[in-house]
This record gives sequence, structure tokens and C-alpha cells, in this order.
Amino acid sequence: MAARKPLIAGNWKMFGRAADLGEIAALNRAVGRASGTIDVLICPPAVYIPAAVAQAQGTSVLIGAEDCSPIAVDAARTGEVSAAMLADVGAKYVINGHSERRQNHKESDDLVRQKAEAAIASGLIPIVCVGETQAERAAGKVAEVVSSQVRASSPTQGGAFVVAYEPVWAIGGNSTPTLAEIGEVHALIRETLTGQFGASASEVRILYGGSVGPKNAGEIFTVPGVDGALVGRASLKASDFSAIILGHPAAA
Ligand code: 13P
Repeated sequence: MAARKPLIAGNWKMFGRAADLGEIAALNRAVGRASGTIDVLICPPAVYIPAAVAQAQGTSVLIGAEDCSPIAVDAARTGEVSAAMLADVGAKYVINGHSERRQNHKESDDLVRQKAEAAIASGLIPIVCVGETQAERAAGKVAEVVSSQVRASSPTQGGAFVVAYEPVWAIGGNSTPTLAEIGEVHALIRETLTGQFGASASEVRILYGGSVGPKNAGEIFTVPGVDGALVGRASLKASDFSAIILGHPAAA
């Protein structure tokens, strides 16, 4: 099997303005050659995607989206944006099933899977997010929760996809699981994917997300089975995000 190319993705969430898109060009300058060995991705709010794609033109920074409709064809769906539209304006990836959408918009595993399948059908690579809450971890249910999310949210029709392990309690704070805990969950996700998809599961990249910053990224990237990161706050500024990327062993 060829080694999986690391992916370091920034999720801007509902932050940023048009004026902040200059961070994309700054990021490209800061990461230099590293973007040849690492896929570098920025997912801004949907309205900024076309301008972000223009900013990234001629650089190796990829642009993605934070969500998409589960409906792959044009339809009467007021307020929704289809994966085909995202691909049309130059997005390459889309985040599906982020815990903020699972919690605030009551997205089910089944809906997340439909979104990921619509993404693949439209030529995008979905990043399917999974992760336990603090209460589920305290109850010793990490393996049960995460493996069932992976099984029920992963796209089933073939085509490249990515899984992001984002413990809900680690997002937007200062605490992360220990490196050993991250390694255990990544191994569990790999095992679950292999059970579901066989040998092709070895091609799926598994990212860690939740309070990744310039200070802890380097050690997280040394954990076996971690193929990169999904970064929130620290992806908004090119200075922080490039420090994370340059801290990856593949950047050397
Ligand atoms: P933070 O990096 O801000 O903790 O957010 C993580 C996240 O939710 C990325 O999708």
C-alpha cells in the first residue's frame, strides 16, 4: 500500500470575513514546499468559497466546504447548497457531520452518510466527523459510540473519503485526549473501516481534531495512525496554521 499523504485541514466555522481571505495567500507563502508532501485545505463559510478559490489560484492550498445538502441533484431545497454547486465553484472537499451540526442541527448518522454520498457523487472528498461527548467518555462508551458513528456515517458507494476523529469535549477548549488515547481511537476507527470496506479501508485518511494548535500539533502527528488534523481556531491565522503544518514530520 502506498503511504497515505497527510491532510491538514482548517475549518473556519462561522468566523472570518472577505478581508480575511488574504490569509490563504499568506498561508501558501508560509508553508512553501511543505504543500507538496502534505495536502493543505481551508474550508471557509460557503459564501466565501468562490473568493477563497480565487485567492488559492496558482497555489497548492485546496479549498473545501463545511457542509452540503444530502440531495445530489438540483431540487427545491430553499437555503441548501448542493455538493455539485460546491464542486462547480472549485471546492475539492466538504466536511460532513461535524459535531456542531450533529448537535445544533440534529444531524443523524444516516443524514451524514447521505451528505457524504452526495459529495462523492459530485466529485468532492467528504471528511466525515465522528467523536464522543464528555459524558460518553466518562461512561466508558468511546469505542461503542465512535465505531457505530463510523459504520453508519461512512459513504458506502465507493470513492475517496476521510474520517476525522473529533472528541466533542476537546473542541474549542484547551484539553485533548492523551496521545495514547488518540492512538487507541484511531486504531479502532481503522479496524472498523477495515471490517466495513476490506482492504480499500487502508486508503482512508484518519485525522485528529479538537484543540490542535502550534504547541501540540507536532506530538499529535507522531501518534501512529494519525494522518493529519482538522483544525478550528488555529486555522484562521496563517501564522498559526502554517506553524501546525510545518510541525508535521512530512514537512521537513
Ligand atoms: P478547535 O481546533 O477550535 O478546537 O476546533 C476543532 C474543530 O471543531 C475542527 O473541526
